[in-house]
Formats: sequence, structure tokens, C-alpha cells
Amino acid sequence: MKIRGQRPSDVVAAVCVPASLFLFLNLLLLSPPPPSSITTLQDANTNIQTQSPSTTTTTTVRKIGPSINTTGGEGRREDLLLFTPILRCASTSLINLLGLLSKHNNFHMQKRPRRKAELVHIPKVDLQREMVVNISRISTPSVVIESAAYINFTAFGKERPIRVSLVRDPVERAVSWYYHARAPYHLVERHAAFPDTILPSRAFLKKDLESCLKSRSDTECRYIPGKEMLGHTVEFFCGHEDFCPIFGDVRALLRAKEVVEREWAVVGVLEEWNNTLHVLHHYIPRFFEGASQLYYEHLHHSKTKTNTNFYKPQVDPKAKEFLKTSFHVEYEFYEFVKQRLHRQYRALNTANDL
Ligand SMILES: *[C@@H]1O[C@H](CO)[C@@H](O)[C@H](O)[C@H]1NC(C)=O
Ligand SMILES: *[C@@H]1O[C@H](CO)[C@@H](O)[C@H](O)[C@H]1NC(C)=O
Ligand SMILES: *[C@@H]1O[C@H](CO)[C@@H](O)[C@H](O)[C@H]1NC(C)=O
Ligand SMILES: *[C@@H]1O[C@H](CO)[C@@H](O)[C@H](O)[C@H]1NC(C)=O
Repeated sequence: MKIRGQRPSDVVAAVCVPASLFLFLNLLLLSPPPPSSITTLQDANTNIQTQSPSTTTTTTVRKIGPSINTTGGEGRREDLLLFTPILRCASTSLINLLGLLSKHNNFHMQKRPRRKAELVHIPKVDLQREMVVNISRISTPSVVIESAAYINFTAFGKERPIRVSLVRDPVERAVSWYYHARAPYHLVERHAAFPDTILPSRAFLKKDLESCLKSRSDTECRYIPGKEMLGHTVEFFCGHEDFCPIFGDVRALLRAKEVVEREWAVVGVLEEWNNTLHVLHHYIPRFFEGASQLYYEHLHHSKTKTNTNFYKPQVDPKAKEFLKTSFHVEYEFYEFVKQRLHRQYRALNTANDL
């Protein structure tokens, strides 16, 4: 398979080799599909939130201009939704929600092959084209789940799908990843799917994040701006330019912001889950009509369907503060995405008042 020929990386490596945290990987594992945690959602609920989306009525919502609502328009397909799951950012919740919505709103979920490692960075233009052609071939109303970083469909002469992703607080994501790589259910599921994977060592499994951060020689928790570390959030939106995989790169940040504005219908935020569901519903009704209701009825209370890691321990706030110092660019992007979501949310309410 071409994917293997790219830059193969067995993710057991992700679990065994110390230098294997998600940021170091070119190919990311996604054996149990990515996730969220109910704990995080509940944490989010205790955060101060000024907006309460559930009260807005849908009937009086006016159409919102193309600068904020980029869902439709010239050169876009309104019957094809491309969801880019970012690991440990509530993607499992959204995939399960889309499964419910597919019956409610009448669309297909395209099956995706279970891959040992997830392909994010695709420097080869031919493989990018192949992916675009494959996705464009789908003719029925569908959701496609594909973890590759942004590819410009227009550049390959194809209509653009509706794009959706979810992000979360960068340090929370790093912590979540760290313990996900060690979660027993994850290791077991992965081993069942790919029996040739090597199980991680006892020392690896017993290492907590605090010790990892304290040990200077341990590369698993080193996030070094300016170094190539594939799989950070900015990369997914930046695309496949040389600078996109560089952690903390300002060009990558600028590019990612531009691409989000022009190409992503909605980038949701895990910490603002209700707003996210509300914005998805109103900006992409073809796919997300009824999202909040179905989520709270069927998924919210399921630790499995939201891929909650109940093996994740409390992390020392000092360790998080320490991690934060490396994540400036990731935080700038995260804040940008949050503001955009707020802007989209407010536009709905303003339209309502008119
Ligand atoms: C989100 O919506 C649910 C269901 O409508 C509600 O129970 C919950 O309190 C809301 N959370 C926040 C933070 O607004
Ligand atoms: C945004 O655009 C989509 C596609 O044209 C449309 O279905 C939806 O109603 C629009 N939403 C708002 C709030 O304008
Ligand atoms: C495109 O589709 C073909 C046939 O289903 C498949 O073998 C190939 O791996 C796909 N390529 C990509 C990049 O997804
Ligand atoms: C995508 O490609 C088209 C055609 O080459 C170009 O006009 C457009 O600016 C590109 N979009 C982005 C977001 O780079």
C-alpha cells in the first residue's frame, strides 16, 4: 500500500520508543478512533461560559453572509462533508454523533479502512491527488473521515467538500495523548486488530507525565519549537508545505489561520462543546440538524462512545504550566479558532434579533 511506502511508522513505536509522543510522529495511530473524555466535557461545563446556546430558536435564523458562513457557494459540494479527526480532540464523540445523524438527516458514513498508522503529512503530490480523486468520486450524500492535513481540492480541479474539525486546549491534548498511549483498553484493542504489534515495556507503562517532564534525557515529553514534530494541531490546517510539520512555526500558524478562514465551515472546540454543536447545526444543517438533541440523548453519558480514558490520572498543574511554555503558537491558533467559533455563534443571535 502506498501509505506504507510514504514514511512508515508503526505506532507501536508510538507506544514503545520513547521519542514517540504524537508530536514526533509522521504517521499517527488511530486504532481506537480518536476521542474525548467525559471528564473533559464536564470540566468544560464548569468553565465560565457566557453563552447558552440551547435557548436559541432555529426558526427565525437569518442567512448569514459568506465571510462567516463558508459552507456553500461556488465550487463547493454541499452533499459531501470531510471530517478531519485530530487525535484526542473528541473525534470519537463526533464520529458517533455523525453515525446517529446519518439516519436522522439521511446521508452515508463512508467506511474507512482500519489503518495501523494514520496518515497526516503527505508531501507527495501524486498521493494528495489520489486522495482528492478518491473522495471526489463519492456521489451520494456522505461523510468522509480522513486524517490527512489540508489538501486544496481546487488545485486538483475538484469541488471542495464541507470541512469540519475539532480542536481542544493544546496542553490538555498533550496530556490526553500521553495517557491514551498507555491506556490498557487502547493497547488491547490495538493488539487485537494488529497482532504483530509489540507491546510496550513495563517501564513505559508505569511512567507518569511528571517524571517524564523531569527527566532531561526523556524525549517523549520534549516539545521543542522549531523542530519537526508531526501531528501537532496547526499542522492539520496548514497542509503539506515544508514548514507545516515544524512545531511552533509562525509561517505554519499564519497559513493555518488563512486556510481555516477560507476552507473550514466549522472548527469546533472541545471546551465549548454546546456552542460547537449549536454552530454545527446552524451552519451545516444538511448534516448537523438535531446534533445537540441526539448528543445529549444518546452519547453524553457513554464513556465508550465518547472514548473517555478513565485511566488518566490527575496531572500536577505545575507540570501543565511547564508544558505551556512550549505551546505558544499552538495556543495562538487555539484562541483564533475559539474566537471564530464565537463570531459564528454571535452572528446567529444577531440575526435572530433582527
Ligand atoms: C450544554 O447543554 C446541555 C443540554 O442542553 C445542558 O444540560 C448543559 O448544562 C449545557 N452546558 C453548558 C456549559 O452550557
Ligand atoms: C450556511 O450555509 C449553508 C449552506 O448554504 C446553509 O444551509 C445554512 O442555512 C447557512 N446557515 C446560516 C446560519 O446562514
Ligand atoms: C484510493 O482508492 C483506492 C481504491 O479503493 C485505494 O486502493 C487507495 O488506497 C486509495 N488511496 C488513498 C490515498 O486513499
Ligand atoms: C487552492 O488552489 C486554488 C487554485 O490553484 C487557489 O486559487 C486557491 O487560492 C487555493 N486555496 C488555498 C486556501 O490555498
